[in-house]
Amino acid sequence: MNPFDLSGKKIVVTGASSGIGRQCCISCSQMNAQIILIGRDTKRLQETKSQMVNPDYHAMYSVDINDTEILEQTVNEIKDKIGSVDGIIHCAGISTTLPIKLVTNTKMEEFFKTNVFSAFHLTKLLLKPGGFNKIGGSIIFMSSVMSVVGESGKSLYSMTKGALLSGARSLAIELSRKKIRVNCISPGVVISPMSANAIYSQDPEMLERVTNMHPLGLGNVTDVANGCVYLLSDASKWVTGTNLVIDGGYVAK
Ligand SMILES: NC(=O)c1ccc[n+]([C@@H]2O[C@H](COP(=O)([O-])OP(=O)(O)OC[C@H]3O[C@@H](n4cnc5c(N)ncnc54)[C@H](OP(=O)(O)O)[C@@H]3O)[C@@H](O)[C@H]2O)c1
Repeated sequence: MNPFDLSGKKIVVTGASSGIGRQCCISCSQMNAQIILIGRDTKRLQETKSQMVNPDYHAMYSVDINDTEILEQTVNEIKDKIGSVDGIIHCAGISTTLPIKLVTNTKMEEFFKTNVFSAFHLTKLLLKPGGFNKIGGSIIFMSSVMSVVGESGKSLYSMTKGALLSGARSLAIELSRKKIRVNCISPGVVISPMSANAIYSQDPEMLERVTNMHPLGLGNVTDVANGCVYLLSDASKWVTGTNLVIDGGYVAK
């Protein structure tokens, strides 16, 4: 028996149209899970679906996760059409490198809405009757090494990723009686559209400096998706309230 098998599990993945979220969909489908893909860009969601095992087995919803009404309608539709779910991987997120003098209230609101509030709002909606499987489940919030270490220009991003981490710990205690586990994954820099658009990727010297901060080099999306498979599977049934750091040694340095 494969301890990482996800047969019979229904998993909601946000950020499914790109990068880490896309790979989570692919890797979980390879482990036989049924995936509910959420993202904004319909074409890229469709591309993800076409790369998954048994594409027609999965459902996709083009949704802005900051639109609370639409998100609620989507969750109700998932409950009606697909039934209760067994897990969430919240990958949707935005990043920036911005000195504090340029961090406006509007920016803070935008970042907290997308990176933090959406995670807890989606979780709340799925915790309502009919949302989560009665036998329990697993919730994963995609945090970042920036939740536990600092870098110049990263205060805005770091505060949102730190908030996810602390929220997940308390939620893990609260939901333990329902046998719903809550964990974070904190990746270092992973090659994806997000990191390709980052300021350090525009300058070869800066990119080399960032790469050298990772003793094992930069990560791939599969490195993170494999961690998600573990945290969704019964192999991690005694793991909750933790932060799985997947960073090629960045934090250890
Ligand atoms: N890549 C890294 O080096 C790295 C390191 C540490 C942590 N992380 C975290 O890992 C997660 C995924 O990163 P990534 O590299 O895969 O980024 P990415 O390629 O830029 O993908 C981001 C995803 O978030 C979705 N998204 C953003 N805002 C949304 C909104 N308002 N509504 C719905 N979907 C929204 C995007 O959907 P659309 O494109 O459809 O709009 C996209 O699917 C993020 O939370 C990021 O902070 C990444």
